[in-house]
Amino acid sequence: MAKRYLIETFGCQMNVHDSERMAGLLEHAGYVPATEDAGPDVVVVHTCSVRERAEDKLYARLAELSAAQDDGRSKPVVAVTGCVAQQEGESLAKRHPGVDIVVGTQALKRLPDLLADVEQGVGSSQAVDINPYEDVSFPLGVVRRSDPVKAYVTVIEGCNDYCSYCVVPYTRGHERMRPLADIVAEVSHAVQGGRREVHLLGQIVNHYVAPDRPGTDFAGLLEAVHEVPGVERIRFASPHPRHVTPRMIEAMRVLPRVCRHLHLPLQSGSNRVLARMRRRHTREQYLDLVDALRAAMPSIALSTDMIVGFPGESAEDFEDSLSLVRRVRYTSMFSFKYSPRPHTLAAKRLPDDVPEPEKTRRIIVLQDTQKDIQLTLHQAVIGSTVSVLADSVSRRRADELAGRTGSNVVVNFPGPPDWIGRFIDVRVERAGPNSLSGRPVSVEGVPLRTGDTRLHSGAAGR
Ligand code: 5AD
Ligand code: SF4
Repeated sequence: MAKRYLIETFGCQMNVHDSERMAGLLEHAGYVPATEDAGPDVVVVHTCSVRERAEDKLYARLAELSAAQDDGRSKPVVAVTGCVAQQEGESLAKRHPGVDIVVGTQALKRLPDLLADVEQGVGSSQAVDINPYEDVSFPLGVVRRSDPVKAYVTVIEGCNDYCSYCVVPYTRGHERMRPLADIVAEVSHAVQGGRREVHLLGQIVNHYVAPDRPGTDFAGLLEAVHEVPGVERIRFASPHPRHVTPRMIEAMRVLPRVCRHLHLPLQSGSNRVLARMRRRHTREQYLDLVDALRAAMPSIALSTDMIVGFPGESAEDFEDSLSLVRRVRYTSMFSFKYSPRPHTLAAKRLPDDVPEPEKTRRIIVLQDTQKDIQLTLHQAVIGSTVSVLADSVSRRRADELAGRTGSNVVVNFPGPPDWIGRFIDVRVERAGPNSLSGRPVSVEGVPLRTGDTRLHSGAAGR
């Protein structure tokens, strides 16, 4: 009987996509997904180490897995992959005897071989591969996409920026660009498989330069992806403010299928803190960039990442972050309390000196401020009609769907599951800080009759 696998994913979109790749590799090697009734023979825990809390989740999960083993249930092979695996290597296997395989971020393609070694009892019972793996290629068609609507496509792996708080250059290695031809082939393949939205992924995605076509920068990449027939929405994550060029702004402005949304990590609004974070831009430069983006695209939605309690962050520095957030009025924000990460410059040189209760106070103030801004922005949309790409059944109600606008705002509305993957015009009736909700008025441009949402699910073709 075919062996069953389960992959548990922590962390960023890059990790979600790695897991889709590992799932594809395992299925090519003859594994099938585990089900509720038939438990896994292999559990892969794909880890994140960007913040301390993310890493702690791995250890909590390993404790659960070994507790399940003590219950006498059959023991699955346990593989720990990704950033914590890369960071801890051999020592992870030594400290956690229940772990059979450790695979770093750059050796994921070796997972099926390492599993075969462990299952056949070749060598030790533990297999570790965290060697750097320079090859950024991935065989076309192997990835098992978990999302019916959007496709993640890697364009750059690794990062050379060494922001002082960030572990990523140590876990994902130095920056490597994927050939443009590979990217375009993967986008075409994903679209042929029914995906309408493409998410280009890279640690600093807008640093892209095509290794196989001289002169093609990130703007050129957007143009090339935009030309692929069938691509209807293009998003990308994450750009670095420092690499947002006039060419990139112009490409976003003129290419209609590039979403009018930019995630522009700020981290801090204080020049003193930005300098110690090694972000290489100032508050003023960031604000100039926001002005340039809005001058070119008045409707552009901006979102960001913020860190509170970075070493030496004073109350005044934090006020600078708050004032910048109030000025930019982001449509969404991810905010984090600083935690020192292994190998990083900040962990080595700067004492983690903002007390935990003060970090908590600051993050609450920041999140409350942001919540008020989001509510106001969302309320202003009530009464208008927005175009939503339906992507899932709503988390709130089984007879509702959820999707996102081009600006990346979540919208809930009544509708049948076979609308997933379609563009729905929704008239917005209610707004909360995190989402909008309303009534569908048309499906793929075909108007619905008043009061009729469910019966006409088949009315409009794709
Ligand atoms: N502490 C807190 N937040 C961090 N991030 C990255 N490193 C740290 C750290 N050491 C946040 C940044 C980054 C996001 C992915 O995680 O905001 O943009
Ligand atoms: Fe980390 Fe900076 Fe690289 Fe982003 S750009 S991954 S924050 S080092």
